[in-house]
Parts: sequence; C-alpha cells; structure tokens
Amino acid sequence: MEMKKVCVLGAGLMGNGIAQVCAQAGYEVTLRDIEQKFVDGGMNTIKKNLGRDVEKGKMTPDQMNTILSRIKPMLDLKEAATGADIVVEVVIEVMDVKKKVYAELEEIVPKHCLFFTNTSGLSITEMAAVTGRPDRFIGTHFFNPVPVMRLLEIIRGHQTSDETLETAREWGRKIGKDVIIVKEAPAFVVNRILCTMLNEAFFVLDEGLASAEDIDKGMVLGCNHPIGPLALADLVGNETLLRVVEGLHRELGDKYRPAPILRKLVRAGNFGRKTGKGVYDYNKQ
Ligand code: 3HC
Repeated sequence: MEMKKVCVLGAGLMGNGIAQVCAQAGYEVTLRDIEQKFVDGGMNTIKKNLGRDVEKGKMTPDQMNTILSRIKPMLDLKEAATGADIVVEVVIEVMDVKKKVYAELEEIVPKHCLFFTNTSGLSITEMAAVTGRPDRFIGTHFFNPVPVMRLLEIIRGHQTSDETLETAREWGRKIGKDVIIVKEAPAFVVNRILCTMLNEAFFVLDEGLASAEDIDKGMVLGCNHPIGPLALADLVGNETLLRVVEGLHRELGDKYRPAPILRKLVRAGNFGRKTGKGVYDYNKQ
C-alpha cells in the first residue's frame, strides 16, 4: 500500500527535521505539538533551513514553497493523526508520556497506520505493547541535525513484523537516509557508543584534566571528529544525553554511571544550545 500521509508528533529539534525531510521527499505532513510556540518554533526552523538552501542555489524559491505547502502545522492530535499512514512520534523521552500518546493515537488512526518512534534509547517493545498493533510498531532513530545527518537507525521490537521493517527501510531510503538495522537493547547501537563517550568527556571535565575547550579540541584534532564531545552534548541537549546515560546505567550497570557535572548542568537548566547555555555560553557568541 502506498504511504502518503506522515504525521509527526513533536516539533522540536528532531521533529521539525523529520517533518522537513518527509516533505522534501513528497509526503503530505502534519506537524503537531502541544503549544503554539513549539509549532511556530519548528516551522521557523524549517523555513530557515530551506531558506539557506535557496541562498546556496540548492533549490529554487518555488521548490521551497512547494515543500512548505506540504507541511501543515497544528495543535490538535485528532486532526493531525486522522488518516495518517505513518505516525512518527518524537515526543519527550519519558516512557509514560510516550505510552499515553500511543493510547490516544490508537483511537484515531486507521488500522493500516504504522507507528515509528524516534527514541534515543527507550524500549520499542514496551511502547508497542500498549498499542493494539505491536506488529506495526518500530523504532526509527534519527540524528541531529536531521536534514544533514545521513544515518537512520532502525530498531525492531519483539513483535515488529517483517513487512513493517521493510516499509520502514523503504521510507528511510525515500527520505534520503542510509539505514542500519539493529536489535533492541538499551540505547541501541550508536547511542550506546556515542553517549558513553560524551559522558566520559564530562568525567574528564569534572576531574579537571583539561578545559572544556581543550577536551573538545583534542577530539576534533586528534580524532577528526567534526565537533568535540562537549560541544556535541550541547547540540544534542544535555538533558537528552543524561536520560540516555541514566537508561544505560539502570539497565547495564555501574560502568555507565552519569558524570556528576552532567547532572548538575541539567539541574541548572543548562541544556545546551536550545537554552542558550550548556557547557558553553551561546549568548556570548
Ligand atoms: N540544520 C540543518 N542544516 C544544518 C544545521 C542544522 N541545524 N547545521 C548545519 N547545517 C548544514 C549547513 O547548512 C551546511 O550545509 P552545506 O554543506 O550545504 O553548506 C552543513 O550542515 C555544514 O554546516 P556548517 O558548515 O555550518 O558547520 P559544520 O561543518 O561545523 O557542520 C554539523 C555542522 C553538521 C552539525 C557538524 O558539526 C557535525 O556533523 N557535528 C556532529 C553531529 C553529530 O554527531 N550528530 C549526532 C548527534 S547524536 C544524536 O542526534 C542522537 C540522539 O539520540 C542523542
């Protein structure tokens, strides 16, 4: 069956990027969040990203307008999800919140609709279990910034069907991503390795081994990473990183204990670029 309508739930950092790449691939998209300011923020980011592509001559203003016309921003869940072929859920990384959204969705979407969850590391199987369609449920883990990063990590839950996996793989290809298929485990594959490294950078900072700038410089110049681990934590969001590391710690043991300084930054509300302050102060730049 042809998939035409994608409903993206959550217009934040990842959600707006997912809506953008879906619209660029020709899908009709609804972009829903719980407050007007989040929806507006998401749409503004998409306009800014596409506007940059127009300035660079990568697309024409007409193409940009066509892409934008495919995205319908909205607040009402029922309106956003009615008739959806695919729901990509990108709500906050809290299991109970995600489960509540799925319970509501189940009453709205058509029977054939697939549920794709973008989670940094929560159990796909646990979320799928509260729906009436665990066979049509799968994890689609994107990377920030979504329009730039090529990878889509697809995670199969315990009851995900082969058909759902193949549809998700084909959808990933259509929206311009390279796919890897991984088994379900805490934080899957990429975040298990990446977030452990970012957490270690916070331990190194906490121990006073070098300044934040030098830790980042070390990994950029010594390992050819595009940006340093602390700058990357600020890009991803320190609160998101902490949640992933807490999950690893809970499920896999003490080796994954979160660095105290990471916890302190989050308690202080210093989430990174999105709040203007994280390891670095973005208001100064
Ligand atoms: N949205 C859209 N496009 C963006 C962007 C954004 N937020 N930021 C940068 N870009 C584009 C630029 O327009 C530019 O496009 P061009 O090549 O067509 O000119 C290109 O990306 C490069 O940007 P810049 O020249 O401005 O800057 P950099 O070369 O420093 O690249 C970066 C920026 C792509 C963010 C680079 O620093 C990078 O790759 N960093 C690592 C990102 C990473 O590791 N992401 C994964 C995080 S983990 C994750 O998301 C999983 C989660 O579950 C925790």
